[in-house]
Amino acid sequence: MLRRLHKEQPASFEFTPANLAWAKGQISKYPEGRQASAVIPLLWRAQEQHGWLTRPAIEYVADMLGMAYIRALEVATFYFMFQLQPVGSVAHIQICGTTSCMICGAEELIAVCQELISKAPHALSADGKFSWEEVECMGACANAPMAQIGKDYYEDLTAEKLRELIGRFSQGEVPVPGPQNGRYAAEPLTGLTSLQEFESGRLQYNASAQLAVDIGDSVKRIDGTEVPLRTPWIAGGAAAGAAVAERAETAEDRAARKAANAEKKAARAEKQAAKEAPVAEAAPEGGMKPAALTAARDGGADKLQTIEGIGPALEKLCHELGIYHFDQIAAWGPAEVEWMDGNLKGFRGRVTRDKWVAQAKLILEVGVEEFLRRAKSNDY
Ligand code: FES
Repeated sequence: MLRRLHKEQPASFEFTPANLAWAKGQISKYPEGRQASAVIPLLWRAQEQHGWLTRPAIEYVADMLGMAYIRALEVATFYFMFQLQPVGSVAHIQICGTTSCMICGAEELIAVCQELISKAPHALSADGKFSWEEVECMGACANAPMAQIGKDYYEDLTAEKLRELIGRFSQGEVPVPGPQNGRYAAEPLTGLTSLQEFESGRLQYNASAQLAVDIGDSVKRIDGTEVPLRTPWIAGGAAAGAAVAERAETAEDRAARKAANAEKKAARAEKQAAKEAPVAEAAPEGGMKPAALTAARDGGADKLQTIEGIGPALEKLCHELGIYHFDQIAAWGPAEVEWMDGNLKGFRGRVTRDKWVAQAKLILEVGVEEFLRRAKSNDY
């Protein structure tokens, strides 16, 4: 597409004092000799100030940055974000016409723009409030078809929805951006299929729509008065001081929102942890607790893992219950076996199932070596 400067140009351009201070702050980010690096933000701010990018504005920015006019012109004509002709005073509407959006109805959206704004793209509506153009994929394909209006995305559009949005913008309203079909973000139309546990604690709108709502205006152009200067590396003058105070207030709001979100997150985590916590097993009351030792006798504990079915975890559990020796186990009667079976947390019933008492008795009778030989052939 040919991108040329508009045939009618204003006589001159200069930044407002607020924008000039902001621009100087941007330039100061770059080392000496690299000021041209600020060309895109400065051209963008010039466009925000005037509504579209004029030749005097491009030359003014080039002068500020010590660039040849042609270099700044190359940048301005290369990037589609720069509007080289007048745009609507309320909004410039960019309809995505790439594959997903085209399949899902972008052509109908374009037809609405042609009907309500102007037949041709890049032309003003009769009242001067709107202009439109078709653009390439804007990365919101999961919410096709979509349009960028002002600085926000309006997604999951239909011809009727777009018609309604233009009507509301025309009345001075700023409709909430994001999906226009009731979806929260880009989840399936039928609702969440995963991460459902996070559904209850989320913000009213998805993060980008919420930010737009918090700011309160998605089509207002930045004019240098509403955004604090973000140039902390410059010693603050009066303007910077006022801006810093304003920014502190904004930071407080942001901190409050973060704190509220953190609280919700903690509540969700607690709820989830409660769900996942193992249900405490109530110890059965039956049986009789076997006689326990406070420690192994001299010579140390027997290797209880010799008994088939006792591994390191069960051996540790036995020690915690004061059981260290084969003769202790061999002495258990039915009441002790019942108690042990009921109190081996996570291993209930193992004493009976693996015949600990019989094994312990055999070990005492024939010795560990012979026991192991017989154990191999299951002869006990
Ligand atoms: S195809 Fe329209 S946003 Fe990607």
